[in-house]
Amino acid sequence: MRPRLGVAYYPEQWPRGRWETDARLMAEAGLAVVRIGEFAWVELEPSAGTFDFGWLDDAIEILVANELAVMLGTPTAAPPAWLIEAHPEILPRRADGRVHPFGHRRHYCPNQPAMREASRRIVAALADRYGTDPRVESWQIDNELMGRCVCAVCRVRFQDWLRERYGSIEALNESWGTAFWSQRYDDFAQIPPPELGTAAATLFRTHAPNPSLALDFRRFTSDSHIAYLRLQVDELRSRGTAQPITTNLMGFKFGEIDYHRLAAELDVVAWDNYPALDRSGHWSGSALAADAMRGLKNKPVWIVEQQVGALGWEILHTPRRGQMRLHTYQAIAHGAELVGYFRWRTARHGTEQHWYGVIDAHGRVGRRYRELAELSKEIDALGDVLAEATVVSPAALLHDYDSRFALQVQPTNPSLAYEESAQRHYEALRTLGIGVDVISPDADLSSYRLVTAANLYVVDESVVASLRAYVEGGGTLVLAPRAGVKDRSNVVPELPFPTLLADLAGVEVADVASLLDDDPVRISGVDGAPDGEFRGWFEQIEPKGAHVLALYAEGDFAETPAVTIHSVGDGRVVYIAGVADLATLRNLYQAVAPDAGLVTAALPDGVECVQLRGQAPLLMFLNHADGERRVSLDGAKRDLITGVEHEQSIRLAPFGVALLAPVRAAVETA
Ligand code: GAL
Ligand code: ZN
Repeated sequence: MRPRLGVAYYPEQWPRGRWETDARLMAEAGLAVVRIGEFAWVELEPSAGTFDFGWLDDAIEILVANELAVMLGTPTAAPPAWLIEAHPEILPRRADGRVHPFGHRRHYCPNQPAMREASRRIVAALADRYGTDPRVESWQIDNELMGRCVCAVCRVRFQDWLRERYGSIEALNESWGTAFWSQRYDDFAQIPPPELGTAAATLFRTHAPNPSLALDFRRFTSDSHIAYLRLQVDELRSRGTAQPITTNLMGFKFGEIDYHRLAAELDVVAWDNYPALDRSGHWSGSALAADAMRGLKNKPVWIVEQQVGALGWEILHTPRRGQMRLHTYQAIAHGAELVGYFRWRTARHGTEQHWYGVIDAHGRVGRRYRELAELSKEIDALGDVLAEATVVSPAALLHDYDSRFALQVQPTNPSLAYEESAQRHYEALRTLGIGVDVISPDADLSSYRLVTAANLYVVDESVVASLRAYVEGGGTLVLAPRAGVKDRSNVVPELPFPTLLADLAGVEVADVASLLDDDPVRISGVDGAPDGEFRGWFEQIEPKGAHVLALYAEGDFAETPAVTIHSVGDGRVVYIAGVADLATLRNLYQAVAPDAGLVTAALPDGVECVQLRGQAPLLMFLNHADGERRVSLDGAKRDLITGVEHEQSIRLAPFGVALLAPVRAAVETA
């Protein structure tokens, strides 16, 4: 599908007399999709069971009259005051005992019967009215599902969830190892939701829960949100709703819900993209998020919220001039077929007055509107070039929620943090010009030349079997420290680390060191392999069939192997025994690239390159730096955005974008 642009609109927040103008301005700017209805519960159901759809009908009518497609939200992220008054138990209870009060949003527990009942009622009413309405193109359920609750209902539901998983209390005791600290349970009813902090917040916390309990509670919380989503999907579908259904996810950095499982409930993955909020400050943050979201279904995604202007609640972050365009192209290159901006107009009231929309609170068009209108023309002029283009990814990064949850429970050393480790490996590959899919360890790996498991902390036999088949078939697998430390119950297997992965890696861990200072430990390459540095976490390993690529050059493990490579079948497994910094990882990936069959590229600092396959092979260069960059080309190429031909190199303006096709193919598609 050709990429389309859209916007989030809240007609209920603006006078009725303004809607026509808004719709006309949207259409004139080239927007195609408008998302409405999210959060408007009290406007749609002013009191229990009394509905008012008149205004929504009008809004839809006006939008559609302007040839705008409508995405309709279910409003359940904002339960009205009347519902909370009647059922205060809906308010979620945090682990510290605090109750999330009315007056914000997301103030509900997804397991509370009254909330589920009320959700079913409003969703049923919406489904009956709009489920087969051709003016509505798609549905978004709720908004950014998240939050952990330990209310009385969640406690009982958690116990039921455990009963279902373990069958008997004996099996649970056995699996969790409740002989530790006298934790044996006689009955599921005795099991509390755990304290939800992390054990490492201070060095010693008396309330650090049993890690098996804590991991199960994280899975339960994730399942609770998924079940709540499913309740709404079922309600829509059982009433004949025909349009595609989605919900808006939050990219890679959000780690409370197993998005692989959640995505299975959706027709299409949608997500919210706010690059300015990415604390890493590097383009690989938004790129990783985009690849992780596409990887959930391995299909094009919709971005239903993308930053357009300054944003923030208390503190403002302002995107730089040109970044709205840059991030739109980045999103499209990574697989978005819809980019919907947040929001149409800056709010005059409420928490998000500082979240700047396409137009300002005063309602007149300005710089952002004009830039967006230009951008939409530019994208339109590309015709079908991007419609058929898909990302080329010779490499994959495994993204495993159990590992992520287990590391939240016991972070062990800050250098092992899941999100940062994943981003470091991802960034190392991407800055070498290698495309990376971000996928579940259960996914089919056969199409990848290299698979990296930056943080495969939890493993089971089936994942190991799939990795083995992949490597034996000629693949290159990269394992980093703390691989295979836990099984699915968050229990340490009775094997030397990396336990179930030891055979594949051809190494055994003999000793570990965790240092809380940030001092690097040097490693030196053997036989031409690169030198490098580790920080924070170190393992002393003994090769059991693997060859040494690098040795520790100093420290307690000096002269022992730091990086190894093991031939297995037609492939190979690299084991990195410490937390390597970005430069070290880049050099390592560069060193293994030829054997893995990967081609690397030299890219200037700040320049992202995305390879696309469409009618012709395409290269998108995105300059994330605020200075000019020059990229050399391996043959004449035409920039499909400007129409200009470039012989040997192309100059990218600050925050500039180029979409290059080989000259011949570009002529054919023109
Ligand atoms: C998103 C959310 C939107 C809006 C935006 C700005 O996380 O889905 O409703 O709140 O952030 O805060
Ligand atoms: Zn609850």
